[in-house]
Amino acid sequence: MTSQPQTSFPPDSVPQLDLPAQYKAIGAEIRTAVERVMASQQFVLGREGAALEEEIAKLCGVAHAVGLASGTDALILALRACGVHAGDEVLLPPFTFVATGSAVSALGAKPVFADIRPDTYNIDPAELERRVTSRTRAIVVVHLYGLAADMDPILAFAKSRKLPLIEDNAQAIGASYKGRRTGSLGDATCLSFYPTKNLGAYGDAGMLVTNSAELAARIRTLRNHGQAGKYLSTEPGWNSRLDEIQAAILRVKLRHLSNWQRARQSHAAEYNRLLSEIPGVMPPVAPEEFEHVYHQYTIRVEKRDALQKCLSERKISSTVYYPHPLHLQPLYSALGHKAGDFPHSERAAKEVLSLPMYPELRKEQIARVVEAVVEFLKC
Ligand SMILES: Cc1ncc(COP(=O)(O)O)c(C=O)c1O
Repeated sequence: MTSQPQTSFPPDSVPQLDLPAQYKAIGAEIRTAVERVMASQQFVLGREGAALEEEIAKLCGVAHAVGLASGTDALILALRACGVHAGDEVLLPPFTFVATGSAVSALGAKPVFADIRPDTYNIDPAELERRVTSRTRAIVVVHLYGLAADMDPILAFAKSRKLPLIEDNAQAIGASYKGRRTGSLGDATCLSFYPTKNLGAYGDAGMLVTNSAELAARIRTLRNHGQAGKYLSTEPGWNSRLDEIQAAILRVKLRHLSNWQRARQSHAAEYNRLLSEIPGVMPPVAPEEFEHVYHQYTIRVEKRDALQKCLSERKISSTVYYPHPLHLQPLYSALGHKAGDFPHSERAAKEVLSLPMYPELRKEQIARVVEAVVEFLKC
């Protein structure tokens, strides 16, 4: 017997994310878009991808966007186009999804970690000065959970050292920092359309956005085997092309993104209202002039693992993003780091818990989650 795709969750459970509910609402629009691609019989680098690139560039407030196969490819190609080579050092936070680091490693470059701020979970600008060396060739900042990193001091540092700045905006499409959209602040930005992202495809997909025409042209070449003209390659590249079905699906979902974003922000406000007075819980912080898009609603509690177990017993899903900071991953054992090297990242990895967050979440579900958290903290 083959297993059926999950179409909904049991009514008495609260999932972490409810993609079946989203599909129920927009399925007809999606099927029309997919049908359009089928009828065109053009599947790679066609009209849908080009239109999506324009629409995403507009959303991010940049001049150029290049559709790619994944967010990881966007990071690797951005680093490469910014001049990072084997043996170079790249500054990045250790508290992030592994792709941020493995993109650096894919080029044979060395990740050099800079600790995060304990309140926002994003890179601490003051740490950059401590970790930079004469071998540093680029900086990657991550806008974790949907909140921008504190970009002004980071931009000033990058400028003073003449280092290219890459934004890992995989989790924060639509967020802004002092009135400017994430993605428009650095030299190049990676976007991920992994299915669980705020703007998620029905498979893997990604994009690079930039204001540099030169950089965009180079990425267009690199994503297609280094071909500058038809069957004429100028440098080694590979296949990182965005396919038309994913682009068409993303264009449908993009029309809903601002409503979904408002729904996420309203759910976060409700969680904040209910959790703010509860001792032992630290709700997420959104500094003034930072617009958080709540890819995740992440709280901090000391007895995190026990809380997660208690929620699970009540059929409430929650997830730890991320339990192992990069410097302590086996992948990076050769770098010789030890526990205590990046204390804020290590503590966050032990204490963070992301609660259910998605546009279709209902107020009574939020109340149920909070009630379970409160009950747990009482005992
Ligand atoms: C912070 C971060 N960076 C990079 C990536 C990589 O994106 P992708 O999965 O599309 O390759 C992701 C998502 O998975 C991510 O969350």
